[in-house]
Amino acid sequence: MDHFLYRNGTLHAEDVAITDIAATVGTPFYVYSAATLTRHYHLFTEALSPLPHMVCFAIKSLSNIAVLKLIGDLGAGMDVVSGGEYRRARAAGVPGDRIVFSGVGKTRDEMRLALTGGIRQFNVESEPELRALSEVAVSLGVVAPITIRVNPDVDARTHEKIATGKKENKFGIPIARASEVYAEAARLPGIDVIGIDVHIGSQLTELEPFEQAYLKVADLTRQLRAEGHDIRRLDLGGGLGIPYTRSNEAPPLPMDYGALIKRTVGDLGCEIEIEPGRLISGNAGLLVSSVIYVKNGEGRDFLILDAAMNDLARPSMYGAHHDIVPVAEPPAATPTEAFDVVGPVCETGDTFAKAREMPLLAEGDLVAFRSAGAYGAVMASEYNTRPLVPEVLVRGDQFAVIRERPSFDEILNRDTIPSWL
Ligand code: LLP
Repeated sequence: MDHFLYRNGTLHAEDVAITDIAATVGTPFYVYSAATLTRHYHLFTEALSPLPHMVCFAIKSLSNIAVLKLIGDLGAGMDVVSGGEYRRARAAGVPGDRIVFSGVGKTRDEMRLALTGGIRQFNVESEPELRALSEVAVSLGVVAPITIRVNPDVDARTHEKIATGKKENKFGIPIARASEVYAEAARLPGIDVIGIDVHIGSQLTELEPFEQAYLKVADLTRQLRAEGHDIRRLDLGGGLGIPYTRSNEAPPLPMDYGALIKRTVGDLGCEIEIEPGRLISGNAGLLVSSVIYVKNGEGRDFLILDAAMNDLARPSMYGAHHDIVPVAEPPAATPTEAFDVVGPVCETGDTFAKAREMPLLAEGDLVAFRSAGAYGAVMASEYNTRPLVPEVLVRGDQFAVIRERPSFDEILNRDTIPSWL
């Protein structure tokens, strides 16, 4: 469910016509709906109530500071995976004690940043990281609260590039070795063990893999408690999938996911943490683009847009599907034609969709990629020296540019020519 609907023949973001934003900002641009972001956050808090819990938004999915402020002001925590993301969360006004630090390769500098700025917990992913964190904490005269991310060896049944819970993946420690690693953690002077962390992958469209993983975490909680650890918090990761097509997909609802959490780990008396990204931000954003040319090729026709793989990488990177809709609502029974929808970047991989049925469009017409709020703008680059795509936030009938399109001067001035050249 989102707030991008046709009204009077034009696609709107809440009460704002996409055409009005395009006239001010130019294309391409991302636009986010505050109402959708808010609603999706609340779906999770409702699903987990009355368990003591914190929903930590995975800001890797959408990290614009305005969006983080919106979600943080609702009471959300944040899941960060780099010093840069930590700084974004703090700049959005989120206090350190609502920030969780995940990731396999935290540097000592990043540990120092979070230990001095405030942190809810580190999710530690290996023994070398554990020892480094203890050393850094001791050097600062503090103790680092941690969970250890366990790898439950569960098949998340999602795209191989975003599955993280199999033993061959780089994430976490094998669950079979947990007892040993927790024992070492308990002996380290700079470490306070508070819980367990698990995250098995992204865009999961079934609940069963979560169930397998959470049952293993429940068993591990009992075992570690019996071994003397005060396990009081469970971070269950993110990963709940979203529908990318209007028609035939129905991934589980947050309410069913919440019921599963209650069923599997609800009786342990732990505080529950989750780290959803995509379900909060994915269907809260569009990428809006305009048609540069309609090109008739041999045996196929191309719709050449002014957005490209550098603006939205998911189709070229994962073969991901995004619905692409015209901003001007096509009248009922408008004929469609199959187009390859492509961008201007000089490689064949710059293809958003093949043989996609679209109504006939002309140069200058606007189109919108749906479900582009998550892993869209954050994965954009300036490949082909295409300016980083701007972002717009809508709330009700207001909109604001929350990241400007950089000027070419700004882009070129980042390069320097050495004096000896
Ligand atoms: N927690 C951890 C430790 C993660 O690694 C991730 C995502 C999340 C939470 C949030 O997962 P979500 O709820 O958003 O599924 N670029 C890819 C997705 C990469 C996901 C990486 N980790 C894509 O565009 O599909």
